[in-house]
Amino acid sequence: RPSSSQMENGCSLSGANCRAKGGAPGFKVAILGAAGGIGQPLALLMKMNPLVSVLHLYDIVNTPGITADVSHMDTGAVVRGFVGQPQLEDALTGMDLVIIPAGVPRKPGMTRDDLFNINAGIVKNLCEGIAKCCPKATVNIISNPVNSTVPIAAEVFKRAGTYDPKRLLGVTMLDVVRANTFVAEVLGLDPREVDVPVVGGHAGVTILPLLSQVKPSCNFTKEEIEYITNRIQNGGTEVVEAKAGAGSATLSMAYAAVKFADACLRGLRGDAGVVECAFVDSQVTELPFFASKVRLGRNGVEEIHQLGPLNEYERAGLEKAKKELSGSIEKGVAFVRK
Ligand code: NAI
Repeated sequence: RPSSSQMENGCSLSGANCRAKGGAPGFKVAILGAAGGIGQPLALLMKMNPLVSVLHLYDIVNTPGITADVSHMDTGAVVRGFVGQPQLEDALTGMDLVIIPAGVPRKPGMTRDDLFNINAGIVKNLCEGIAKCCPKATVNIISNPVNSTVPIAAEVFKRAGTYDPKRLLGVTMLDVVRANTFVAEVLGLDPREVDVPVVGGHAGVTILPLLSQVKPSCNFTKEEIEYITNRIQNGGTEVVEAKAGAGSATLSMAYAAVKFADACLRGLRGDAGVVECAFVDSQVTELPFFASKVRLGRNGVEEIHQLGPLNEYERAGLEKAKKELSGSIEKGVAFVRK
């Protein structure tokens, strides 16, 4: 239980009441960057997740109010807030899953790589805390550029001697969510019935939807393939421009983050057949990290699926994606090694 300097909302009576609630079966989840545009709706949605028994909300600002607010929801998870670096260790201790949406988002005209200088240091710092306080936790990285922040996290964990490649996942779920939506629109289907594998990474041409493998199986014209691929690769920019300086995707991202976190938790619980796309330590290509479908289980990533048969358009896309990805990965690794 947190010290008195921390907030434990939903627990103002203290003692037995709290222990009874906190003792309910479920997982302990921390959100780092919980006061942000993604963090707030993510906190709301994780509080609604029945697999979560304890929810820690950490940020460098504003978590007291958000914690008080979210804690009034009549769902099972006990919510605790932590604010500022001195409380990071308490926020992380004992966690099963840590979700990181901390860091600055894009403004119009920016690429995800333009965020590197600020977000690289934030992710490094938070991962040092994870290595120290919950080295066995599964980590979901949302902070951009994901193509570099995941390698940064891996390097931090390697240095600390805690690296478990199965437990580190870059969240590319929003690309899949967008792909399902845009493909469903073109086909006139319910998006919930559509499954589009999206591989590669999470930025521009590294986002590679495999439209030849869409389920239910279907045929697209060349124009449709180009339109859908472009829209998926630029989905983030579409939102950044529409928000006109007020940030990037937050609500659809929180939805995607919860969909992904829920899959990780179902895997940890031992559910069979939990498969989602994620950016992970991989041998699917010659690159050290790559996004593809992975099976999630009690140990995190238990199996990485191969890419399957690609058509000519996808093979060309893969080459472009790998070229850009390789530089982004190296940049992340170099940041920690320097
Ligand atoms: P935001 O600026 O609204 O929120 C970021 C939060 O991080 C703020 O509350 C800030 O106080 C906090 N923060 C900053 N430094 C911190 C630190 N050292 N420790 C803990 N918290 C810290 O930004 P938003 O819109 O929530 O985006 C967050 C990140 O997610 C950005 O890097 C953005 O590019 C990325 N993103 C990733 C997507 C993906 O598909 N993986 C999609 C959309 C955004």
